[in-house]
Amino acid sequence: MSSPSLDHTRNPQASQMADESMVRTLAAQISAIWPQELPLLDRYRGAARVLDVGAGTGEFSSRLAQLWPEATVTGVDVLSSSVELARNRHQALAPRLQFEQGDAFQLQYPEGSFDLVACRHVLQAIPTPELVISELARVLRPGGYAHILTEDYGMLHMMVAALDPDELWRDGPVQYAARTNTDARIGRRTWSLMRQAGFIDLRVDYVIVDTVRVERTVFADIMRAWRDGYVEALASGSSRSPEWFRAGFDQVIASIEDPEQYAVWMVPIVSGTKA
Ligand SMILES: C[S@@+](CC[C@H](N)C(=O)[O-])C[C@H]1O[C@@H](n2cnc3c(N)ncnc32)[C@H](O)[C@@H]1O
Repeated sequence: MSSPSLDHTRNPQASQMADESMVRTLAAQISAIWPQELPLLDRYRGAARVLDVGAGTGEFSSRLAQLWPEATVTGVDVLSSSVELARNRHQALAPRLQFEQGDAFQLQYPEGSFDLVACRHVLQAIPTPELVISELARVLRPGGYAHILTEDYGMLHMMVAALDPDELWRDGPVQYAARTNTDARIGRRTWSLMRQAGFIDLRVDYVIVDTVRVERTVFADIMRAWRDGYVEALASGSSRSPEWFRAGFDQVIASIEDPEQYAVWMVPIVSGTKA
Protein backbone atom coordinates (compact mmCIF):
# COMPACT_ATOMS: atom_id res chain seq x y z
CA MET A 1 0.00 0.00 0.00
CA SER A 2 1.37 3.45 -0.85
CA SER A 3 2.00 6.03 1.88
CA PRO A 4 -1.10 8.18 2.37
CA SER A 5 1.07 11.33 2.17
CA LEU A 6 1.87 10.41 -1.45
CA ASP A 7 -1.71 9.76 -2.43
CA HIS A 8 -2.44 12.68 -4.74
CA THR A 9 -5.99 11.61 -5.40
CA ARG A 10 -6.90 12.19 -1.74
CA ASN A 11 -4.52 15.05 -0.99
CA PRO A 12 -4.00 16.75 -4.38
CA GLN A 13 -2.27 19.73 -2.74
CA ALA A 14 0.21 17.51 -0.85
CA SER A 15 3.29 19.40 -2.08
CA GLN A 16 1.84 22.81 -1.13
CA MET A 17 0.71 21.42 2.23
CA ALA A 18 4.28 20.23 2.90
CA ASP A 19 5.92 23.51 1.77
CA GLU A 20 7.47 25.93 4.27
CA SER A 21 5.02 28.61 3.08
CA MET A 22 2.16 26.50 4.51
CA VAL A 23 3.67 26.79 8.00
CA ARG A 24 3.49 30.60 7.57
CA THR A 25 -0.02 30.39 6.12
CA LEU A 26 -1.34 28.40 9.08
CA ALA A 27 0.38 30.63 11.64
CA ALA A 28 -1.01 33.83 10.11
CA GLN A 29 -4.48 32.34 9.58
CA ILE A 30 -4.90 31.20 13.18
CA SER A 31 -3.65 34.52 14.45
CA ALA A 32 -6.29 36.31 12.32
CA ILE A 33 -9.13 33.85 12.97
CA TRP A 34 -8.77 32.53 16.55
CA PRO A 35 -9.98 35.66 18.39
CA GLN A 36 -13.32 35.53 16.55
CA GLU A 37 -13.53 31.72 16.59
CA LEU A 38 -13.00 31.46 20.35
CA PRO A 39 -16.53 32.57 21.39
CA LEU A 40 -18.04 30.02 18.99
CA LEU A 41 -16.30 27.22 20.90
CA ASP A 42 -18.55 27.88 23.92
CA ARG A 43 -21.15 25.78 22.13
CA TYR A 44 -19.01 22.68 22.73
CA ARG A 45 -17.97 23.38 26.32
CA GLY A 46 -17.48 20.14 28.26
CA ALA A 47 -16.28 18.16 25.24
CA ALA A 48 -13.73 15.77 26.73
CA ARG A 49 -12.57 13.84 23.66
CA VAL A 50 -11.66 16.05 20.70
CA LEU A 51 -10.40 15.13 17.24
CA ASP A 52 -8.89 17.70 14.84
CA VAL A 53 -8.90 16.28 11.30
CA GLY A 54 -6.26 17.67 8.92
CA ALA A 55 -4.53 19.26 11.89
CA GLY A 56 -1.50 20.52 9.96
CA THR A 57 1.04 22.15 12.28
CA GLY A 58 -1.34 21.83 15.24
CA GLU A 59 -2.18 25.52 15.60
CA PHE A 60 -5.85 24.85 16.46
CA SER A 61 -5.37 21.54 18.34
CA SER A 62 -2.82 23.10 20.67
CA ARG A 63 -4.95 26.18 21.38
CA LEU A 64 -7.91 23.94 22.15
CA ALA A 65 -5.83 21.75 24.50
CA GLN A 66 -4.71 24.89 26.34
CA LEU A 67 -8.23 26.29 26.47
CA TRP A 68 -9.76 23.12 27.90
CA PRO A 69 -7.34 21.58 30.43
CA GLU A 70 -9.69 18.62 31.06
CA ALA A 71 -9.90 17.59 27.39
CA THR A 72 -7.79 15.13 25.44
CA VAL A 73 -7.13 16.38 21.92
CA THR A 74 -5.95 14.27 18.98
CA GLY A 75 -4.73 15.94 15.80
CA VAL A 76 -4.62 13.72 12.74
CA ASP A 77 -2.99 14.56 9.41
CA VAL A 78 -2.11 12.55 6.33
CA LEU A 79 1.31 14.19 5.98
CA SER A 80 4.00 12.66 8.17
CA SER A 81 6.08 15.87 8.01
CA SER A 82 3.19 17.91 9.47
CA VAL A 83 2.55 15.33 12.18
CA GLU A 84 6.21 15.40 13.18
CA LEU A 85 6.33 19.20 13.20
CA ALA A 86 3.15 19.43 15.28
CA ARG A 87 4.44 16.81 17.77
CA ASN A 88 7.75 18.61 18.21
CA ARG A 89 6.21 22.03 18.57
CA HIS A 90 3.56 21.10 21.08
CA GLN A 91 5.23 18.33 23.08
CA ALA A 92 4.77 20.30 26.30
CA LEU A 93 1.05 19.44 26.08
CA ALA A 94 1.57 15.69 25.52
CA PRO A 95 0.15 13.17 26.24
CA ARG A 96 -3.14 15.08 26.64
CA LEU A 97 -2.49 16.45 23.15
CA GLN A 98 -1.38 13.89 20.58
CA PHE A 99 -0.69 13.96 16.85
CA GLU A 100 -1.18 10.89 14.68
CA GLN A 101 -0.79 10.19 11.00
CA GLY A 102 -4.03 9.16 9.35
CA ASP A 103 -6.37 9.68 6.44
CA ALA A 104 -9.54 11.76 6.83
CA PHE A 105 -11.26 9.41 4.39
CA GLN A 106 -10.61 6.39 6.63
CA LEU A 107 -10.15 7.52 10.20
CA GLN A 108 -8.60 4.86 12.41
CA TYR A 109 -11.04 5.39 15.30
CA PRO A 110 -14.15 3.38 16.20
CA GLU A 111 -17.63 4.78 15.78
CA GLY A 112 -18.67 7.28 18.48
CA SER A 113 -15.14 7.92 19.84
CA PHE A 114 -15.32 11.73 20.12
CA ASP A 115 -17.45 14.51 21.61
CA LEU A 116 -16.17 17.12 19.16
CA VAL A 117 -14.59 16.80 15.74
CA ALA A 118 -12.99 19.86 14.15
CA CYS A 119 -11.95 20.12 10.52
CA ARG A 120 -10.46 23.47 9.49
CA HIS A 121 -9.20 24.69 6.12
CA VAL A 122 -9.35 21.15 4.71
CA LEU A 123 -12.51 20.64 2.61
CA GLN A 124 -11.37 23.05 -0.14
CA ALA A 125 -8.28 20.90 -0.69
CA ILE A 126 -9.78 17.42 -1.05
CA PRO A 127 -12.02 15.67 -3.58
CA THR A 128 -15.35 14.14 -2.48
CA PRO A 129 -15.63 16.16 0.75
CA GLU A 130 -18.94 14.41 1.48
CA LEU A 131 -16.99 11.22 2.23
CA VAL A 132 -14.86 13.04 4.81
CA ILE A 133 -17.96 14.62 6.39
CA SER A 134 -19.46 11.11 6.76
CA GLU A 135 -16.25 9.98 8.46
CA LEU A 136 -16.48 12.93 10.87
CA ALA A 137 -20.06 11.87 11.65
CA ARG A 138 -19.06 8.22 12.11
CA VAL A 139 -16.41 8.91 14.77
CA LEU A 140 -18.68 11.30 16.70
CA ARG A 141 -20.94 10.06 19.49
CA PRO A 142 -24.65 10.88 19.12
CA GLY A 143 -25.05 14.42 20.48
CA GLY A 144 -21.43 15.23 19.62
CA TYR A 145 -20.48 18.29 17.58
CA ALA A 146 -18.75 18.91 14.26
CA HIS A 147 -16.94 22.23 13.81
CA ILE A 148 -16.04 22.83 10.18
CA LEU A 149 -14.15 25.92 9.09
CA THR A 150 -14.52 25.99 5.35
CA GLU A 151 -12.99 28.22 2.67
CA ASP A 152 -14.69 29.94 -0.26
CA TYR A 153 -12.68 31.85 -2.83
CA GLY A 154 -15.78 33.81 -3.85
CA MET A 155 -15.78 35.41 -0.38
CA LEU A 156 -12.64 37.52 -0.75
CA HIS A 157 -13.11 41.17 -1.69
CA MET A 158 -10.43 43.74 -2.39
CA MET A 159 -10.59 47.08 -4.19
CA VAL A 160 -10.13 46.97 -7.96
CA ALA A 161 -6.92 48.55 -9.31
CA ALA A 162 -4.76 47.67 -12.33
CA LEU A 163 -6.02 44.14 -11.93
CA ASP A 164 -9.49 43.02 -10.84
CA PRO A 165 -8.96 40.86 -7.72
CA ASP A 166 -12.18 38.96 -8.51
CA GLU A 167 -10.37 37.65 -11.60
CA LEU A 168 -7.43 36.57 -9.47
CA TRP A 169 -9.63 34.38 -7.26
CA ARG A 170 -11.71 33.04 -10.15
CA ASP A 171 -8.87 32.32 -12.61
CA GLY A 172 -6.64 31.20 -9.73
CA PRO A 173 -8.01 29.03 -6.91
CA VAL A 174 -11.47 28.39 -8.41
CA GLN A 175 -10.11 27.10 -11.72
CA TYR A 176 -7.16 25.32 -10.11
CA ALA A 177 -9.58 23.49 -7.83
CA ALA A 178 -11.69 22.42 -10.79
CA ARG A 179 -8.55 21.02 -12.47
CA THR A 180 -7.64 19.06 -9.33
CA ASN A 181 -11.13 17.71 -8.70
CA THR A 182 -11.69 19.90 -5.66
CA ASP A 183 -14.01 22.86 -4.93
CA ALA A 184 -12.59 26.24 -3.96
CA ARG A 185 -16.15 27.47 -3.27
CA ILE A 186 -16.94 24.63 -0.86
CA GLY A 187 -17.74 27.23 1.81
CA ARG A 188 -21.21 27.92 0.44
CA ARG A 189 -21.85 24.17 -0.04
CA THR A 190 -20.80 22.94 3.41
CA TRP A 191 -24.17 23.56 5.13
CA SER A 192 -25.91 21.35 2.53
CA LEU A 193 -23.28 18.63 2.80
CA MET A 194 -23.63 18.54 6.58
CA ARG A 195 -27.39 18.45 6.32
CA GLN A 196 -27.16 15.56 3.85
CA ALA A 197 -24.82 13.76 6.28
CA GLY A 198 -27.60 13.90 8.89
CA PHE A 199 -26.25 16.64 11.18
CA ILE A 200 -28.91 18.62 13.03
CA ASP A 201 -29.00 22.04 14.75
CA LEU A 202 -26.81 23.43 11.99
CA ARG A 203 -25.28 26.87 12.47
CA VAL A 204 -23.28 29.05 10.13
CA ASP A 205 -21.08 31.72 11.68
CA TYR A 206 -18.66 33.99 9.88
CA VAL A 207 -15.17 34.96 10.89
CA ILE A 208 -14.50 38.27 9.21
CA VAL A 209 -10.84 38.63 8.36
CA ASP A 210 -10.75 42.25 7.30
CA THR A 211 -8.61 45.35 7.61
CA VAL A 212 -10.78 46.65 10.46
CA ARG A 213 -10.80 43.57 12.74
CA VAL A 214 -7.40 42.06 11.95
CA GLU A 215 -3.93 43.64 11.92
CA ARG A 216 -3.10 44.59 8.34
CA THR A 217 0.33 42.93 8.68
CA VAL A 218 -1.25 39.61 9.70
CA PHE A 219 -3.83 39.72 6.89
CA ALA A 220 -1.07 40.61 4.39
CA ASP A 221 1.08 37.74 5.71
CA ILE A 222 -1.70 35.29 4.82
CA MET A 223 -1.74 36.57 1.24
CA ARG A 224 2.07 36.57 1.05
CA ALA A 225 2.21 32.94 2.16
CA TRP A 226 -0.55 31.93 -0.28
CA ARG A 227 1.40 33.68 -3.08
CA ASP A 228 4.66 31.95 -2.17
CA GLY A 229 3.05 28.53 -1.99
CA TYR A 230 0.60 28.58 -4.86
CA VAL A 231 1.63 30.85 -7.78
CA GLU A 232 3.26 28.06 -9.81
CA ALA A 233 0.42 25.60 -9.19
CA LEU A 234 -2.25 28.18 -10.10
CA ALA A 235 -0.47 28.97 -13.38
CA SER A 236 0.09 25.35 -14.36
CA GLY A 237 -2.69 24.40 -16.79
CA SER A 238 -4.08 27.97 -16.72
CA SER A 239 -4.11 30.53 -19.53
CA ARG A 240 -2.57 32.98 -17.02
CA SER A 241 1.17 33.13 -16.36
CA PRO A 242 2.93 32.82 -13.00
CA GLU A 243 3.85 36.51 -13.40
CA TRP A 244 0.18 37.47 -13.73
CA PHE A 245 -0.70 35.58 -10.56
CA ARG A 246 2.29 37.02 -8.70
CA ALA A 247 1.29 40.56 -9.76
CA GLY A 248 -2.26 39.84 -8.60
CA PHE A 249 -1.16 38.72 -5.16
CA ASP A 250 1.25 41.66 -4.91
CA GLN A 251 -1.59 44.06 -5.67
CA VAL A 252 -3.82 42.39 -3.07
CA ILE A 253 -1.03 42.61 -0.47
CA ALA A 254 -0.44 46.29 -1.30
CA SER A 255 -4.15 46.99 -1.00
CA ILE A 256 -4.33 45.32 2.44
CA GLU A 257 -1.28 47.25 3.61
CA ASP A 258 -2.65 50.59 2.35
CA PRO A 259 -4.31 52.35 5.32
CA GLU A 260 -6.67 54.08 2.84
CA GLN A 261 -8.16 50.80 1.58
CA TYR A 262 -10.55 48.18 2.94
CA ALA A 263 -10.25 44.44 2.19
CA VAL A 264 -12.10 41.39 3.53
CA TRP A 265 -11.98 37.57 3.56
CA MET A 266 -15.19 36.04 4.94
CA VAL A 267 -14.67 32.61 6.46
CA PRO A 268 -17.73 30.44 7.17
CA ILE A 269 -17.71 28.10 10.15
CA VAL A 270 -20.46 25.50 9.95
CA SER A 271 -21.27 23.53 13.07
CA GLY A 272 -23.82 20.89 13.86
CA THR A 273 -24.81 18.05 16.16
CA LYS A 274 -24.78 14.36 15.34
CA ALA A 275 -28.37 13.11 15.68
C1 LIG B 1 -4.56 24.06 5.06
S1 LIG B 1 -4.07 22.81 6.19
C2 LIG B 1 -5.05 23.19 7.63
C3 LIG B 1 -4.36 22.81 8.93
C4 LIG B 1 -5.15 23.01 10.22
N1 LIG B 1 -6.45 22.37 10.17
C5 LIG B 1 -5.31 24.46 10.59
O1 LIG B 1 -6.45 24.91 10.62
O2 LIG B 1 -4.31 25.15 10.84
C6 LIG B 1 -4.87 21.37 5.56
C7 LIG B 1 -4.29 20.09 6.14
O3 LIG B 1 -5.12 18.99 5.73
C8 LIG B 1 -4.27 17.89 5.50
N2 LIG B 1 -4.96 16.90 4.67
C9 LIG B 1 -5.22 16.96 3.34
N3 LIG B 1 -5.82 15.83 2.93
C10 LIG B 1 -5.93 15.03 4.03
C11 LIG B 1 -6.46 13.74 4.24
N4 LIG B 1 -6.99 13.02 3.24
N5 LIG B 1 -6.42 13.24 5.51
C12 LIG B 1 -5.88 13.94 6.53
N6 LIG B 1 -5.35 15.16 6.38
C13 LIG B 1 -5.39 15.71 5.15
C14 LIG B 1 -3.06 18.49 4.83
O4 LIG B 1 -1.94 17.63 4.88
C15 LIG B 1 -2.88 19.78 5.63
O5 LIG B 1 -2.01 19.62 6.71
